[in-house]
Amino acid sequence: MSKLSRLDRRAFLRSTGMTAVAGAVGATVPVSRAAEAGGAVRQQGGRYDFDTIYSRIGTDSSKWDAQIARYGREKIEVGMGTADQDFRIAPAISRALRDRVAHENYGYLSIPASYKESIVDWNRRRYGLEIDPDSIQHAAGVHAGVISTLRAFCPPGSKVLMQTPGYNGFYTDIRVVGCVAEESPLKLVDVEDLERRIDHDTHAFILCNPHNPTGNVWSRSDLMTLGEICHRRRVVVLADEIHCDFVTKGHTYTPFATLGDEAVVRNSVTFKSVSKSFNLSMMKCAYQFSTNPDYLERIAGTGQHRQAMNTLGIVAAEAAYNEGEDWLDQLLEYIDGTQDLVESTVNAHVPGVKTVKPEGTFLAWLDVAEAMEAVGMQQAAAAAEQPTTPEQAFQRFLVDHAHIHLNPGSSYGLGSDGRMRMNIGTSRRLVERALGNMAQALAAV
Ligand SMILES: Cc1ncc(COP(=O)(O)O)c(C=O)c1O
Repeated sequence: MSKLSRLDRRAFLRSTGMTAVAGAVGATVPVSRAAEAGGAVRQQGGRYDFDTIYSRIGTDSSKWDAQIARYGREKIEVGMGTADQDFRIAPAISRALRDRVAHENYGYLSIPASYKESIVDWNRRRYGLEIDPDSIQHAAGVHAGVISTLRAFCPPGSKVLMQTPGYNGFYTDIRVVGCVAEESPLKLVDVEDLERRIDHDTHAFILCNPHNPTGNVWSRSDLMTLGEICHRRRVVVLADEIHCDFVTKGHTYTPFATLGDEAVVRNSVTFKSVSKSFNLSMMKCAYQFSTNPDYLERIAGTGQHRQAMNTLGIVAAEAAYNEGEDWLDQLLEYIDGTQDLVESTVNAHVPGVKTVKPEGTFLAWLDVAEAMEAVGMQQAAAAAEQPTTPEQAFQRFLVDHAHIHLNPGSSYGLGSDGRMRMNIGTSRRLVERALGNMAQALAAV
């Protein structure tokens, strides 16, 4: 691979400052120390610090510790798989949680009206989305809500339409309810393909906006096209908008529920959560809503969905929506800058890899086809003892040679060949280090 060897490695390492962070997360940080380490504490001038590396090692983190357990500590310098972030949460959330744990009882609760109000206010203030508080159903995660909703609308064995590449967790949800994924390769918007894939046995369409893993943020007119097809063909839209707070500069998130056609909106259920935006995934505090009382009744009223939250999740979510806005706005700026850095660095310096800055999410969708070919991933996959895709073989290559863990494109369904998903929700210094490692590993081929 002649292109690989043309890389001016030393200049690149200097430009990314990679040499300066050597060992930054090298040592395992015990939980107690991790809690005191740097991170997003507000600094002078009102800025939060997202740059200081905040180690999560030793906290059972799936992005870090699970990979370290699998591959060994020396093989994981940067965990970039599971879609959560490494930043310290907004101080207001920590404060609210500290106040709550001072009361040492976690018995059953009524979910407070103030939590619902925080959801309504947030969506109105940021997105002009009006949510009737009575239409909100709570869920211990978006998955829980999606599963109940699929159960309500999709008989076992029927088809659930989704666009691929698509978030791998949807395949699990569809399997859990005994249905089958009908995969429409993502082209903006392939009306013919979508229409062709819908038949009498298709009852639901999972829409992901912004789209995981590609980062596509759907325009109002694309959403309308999708919504009209689904309404006309009697397919319920499950609008998963969990990534909605992450949109890069120049792009706008359009909530499905703000579309101009009332009938189209009534044919949908929207799923949201503070989990991605405020790094509260394991707090399990998601919610769903619809303007269609019949749909809500079918989901919860007939016993498909049991609303569930936990005490700390409620407290954290309410504090996030009421007091975390400034923190999130600064984080969005930071992520946007990191996305710029990833695009320019990858395209200029990582041999055989290309990428385009996504419109949303804190994920980068890398085109690694050329690099995979250069390192012989088809052959490696064919020779593997266990069934392995070329992308899985490349995941392993990156672990072994670049000491970074990314998710293989093949887990996101049709249209993911030659792709990897890289989670950039971490200190920019670690992202630089990961890109430097990747460049070095590929240049050495
Ligand atoms: C599009 C999408 N939906 C749902 C989830 C999972 O949500 P939860 O943890 O609230 O179940 C994720 C997590 O990565 C996701 O990316």
